[in-house]
Amino acid sequence: MSLRHFLSTQDWSRAELDALLERAAAFKRTPHGRQLAGKAVALLFFNPSMRTRTSFELGAFQLGGHAIVLAPGKDAWPIEFEVGSVMDGDTEEHIAEVARVLSRYVDLIAVRAFPKFQDWSVDREDRVIKAFARHATVPVINMETITHPCQELAHAMAMREHLGELRGRKYVLTWTYHPKPLNTAVANSALLIATRMGMDVTLLCPTPEYRLDPRYMDAAQQNARENGGSLRVSHDLESAYRGAHVVYAKSWGALPYFGRWEQEKPIRDAHRHFIVDEAKMALTDHGLFSHCLPLRRNVKATDAVMDAPYCIAIDEAENRLHVQKAVMAALVGQG
Ligand code: CP
Repeated sequence: MSLRHFLSTQDWSRAELDALLERAAAFKRTPHGRQLAGKAVALLFFNPSMRTRTSFELGAFQLGGHAIVLAPGKDAWPIEFEVGSVMDGDTEEHIAEVARVLSRYVDLIAVRAFPKFQDWSVDREDRVIKAFARHATVPVINMETITHPCQELAHAMAMREHLGELRGRKYVLTWTYHPKPLNTAVANSALLIATRMGMDVTLLCPTPEYRLDPRYMDAAQQNARENGGSLRVSHDLESAYRGAHVVYAKSWGALPYFGRWEQEKPIRDAHRHFIVDEAKMALTDHGLFSHCLPLRRNVKATDAVMDAPYCIAIDEAENRLHVQKAVMAALVGQG
């Protein structure tokens, strides 16, 4: 039987995702358990983190397990991912050894590896986590690469806590301004999970260039068809916000400009008004606001929105802990 990983929610059935969310709710009520007793998880961070690192380490501890945090290239050897590479550059060991050695020590390997932001045709292959999954002999968890499935579960859990059944609810994923071009991972994930939940989803972005990769647009369309929801793209702020039940904000760099970011900058700079503010939220149907965090206040969303009772970003961040415990427990056969 092939090894079960948690690389994308698309690899898990709707019933399995619902079971993870139910398990997460149980962990929220009763935080401590022995599901990871005597087990260890390696957390490999190729990029910085606050929530992910804290919630995974704490989650392993609360279930009786142990987490080991490694930053390859910083406190662990830089890793080579090319097959057949003559390793006479900066990398010291190959993923073929790293993944197999870690698999002899630990029961789970979790990986955060963002795109390099130079060539989307390369980054969209998600080579780092796929190489870990190929070579590891223990389950691998995606802690954010070009999708962010743990964030998806936390987001779905927070929305359900506040809205109950999500099918048919109006969901807006809005692009927001940010001074730097950011990863599309959370945006891809937002489309995947909202359509999976049968929501009526609008991707609101400044121009057609900010559409997401067709892989995720197509998967979201398919999810919508299968789960009774819908997906549309809008560039009109007012009609997108009107009547929304959930507004989820994220900034990302436009894929046609990948690696040529100086050419994208004028477009991004011209759309600072995509900031989520009280006037836009007033168009919604008592809508909730959320964001994966970290968030630059008064750039992506105003202080008033972040401090409003309808902002559930902190609930969503808390839920990272509960959903990841559910994922870890499931992958070691204790779900
Ligand atoms: N949302 C999220 O993944 O946060 P961190 O980048 O702080 O881990």
